[in-house]
Amino acid sequence: MITIICAEGGSSINGLKKSIEELGEKCEILFLSADNLQIDQTFNIDSDIIHSRCGIGEYHDKLTLFSWQVLNLLEVENHIFINSLKTIYNSADKFKTIKLLSKNNIETPKTGLIRDYDDAKSFMSKNNIYYPVIVKNCFSKCGNGVKLVRNDAELKEASKNAIWYGTTIQEYVEFGDNGVYKDIRVLVVDGEVVGGYRRVSSNFITNLHQGNKVELLKINDELSELSIKCAEAIGGQIVGVDILPSKEGYKVLETNTAPGTKGFRELGINVDKKIAKCLINHKKI
Ligand SMILES: Nc1ncnc2c1ncn2[C@@H]1O[C@H](COP(=O)(O)OP(=O)(O)OP(=O)(O)O)[C@@H](O)[C@H]1O
Ligand SMILES: [Mg+2]
Repeated sequence: MITIICAEGGSSINGLKKSIEELGEKCEILFLSADNLQIDQTFNIDSDIIHSRCGIGEYHDKLTLFSWQVLNLLEVENHIFINSLKTIYNSADKFKTIKLLSKNNIETPKTGLIRDYDDAKSFMSKNNIYYPVIVKNCFSKCGNGVKLVRNDAELKEASKNAIWYGTTIQEYVEFGDNGVYKDIRVLVVDGEVVGGYRRVSSNFITNLHQGNKVELLKINDELSELSIKCAEAIGGQIVGVDILPSKEGYKVLETNTAPGTKGFRELGINVDKKIAKCLINHKKI
């Protein structure tokens, strides 16, 4: 039995369940929002492998601690997770991701974890970074917590109480061309690239949640090697890698351990089957 854990449903989750069942394996979805869910210290589930589509991230300005706690108590019950909870955290905390990637010699935007405005200013001067800069919350999702900061007054506002929020300042990577912004999403499953696309936006925030479109991308060797290296750096089996194509070359922005499959479906690429196979194979190990 493969269990998919999620907060709410969605097309990526249903597509994956269907693919697992088509391959002859049982699959259940544990909805953390279900009415009949009751968690006490004896809570456990009957499952051979868990694939979590939730983790720790910001939702309605708060961290999703309930989801994270449920996953952690299931880990106490010795369940196997693909991706592991360590990997989910490595990817959820955007600053840890940047640290892991740069430790593995992968190009990322220069990033600082800040406590306040003074930290932000000293990061800029030490790294010769000028406005505009990006200020974002390490756990934010769907492009919601990302701010483009243009001057000292905006930086003061964006860095207020930063010490309490896991705030980062980051060099702004220019990747727009005549008002069109295209970045890259590559999906790596079990150390292999299974597909990729460009996210096309009229704004530097390219998230599909913001209504942006996708465009088919032929993945060259450089992108392929880079993406596989990123998945390895965070220790993930199922990893979406987000890459900004800058004038100085590719810069990896972040990774995602519950990558959506909607973009691939729009392009007629079935990645659910590959993810399903990966989960079934890990169950057998
Ligand atoms: N340093 C940067 N330079 C240029 N654009 C950026 C930068 N940081 C973020 N962006 C833009 O903002 C978008 C959202 O930022 P990011 O991916 O860091 O967080 P998120 O998408 O909110 O998190 P998640 O993908 O986990 O939901 C990116 O996809 C990119 O388009
Ligand atoms: Mg993102």
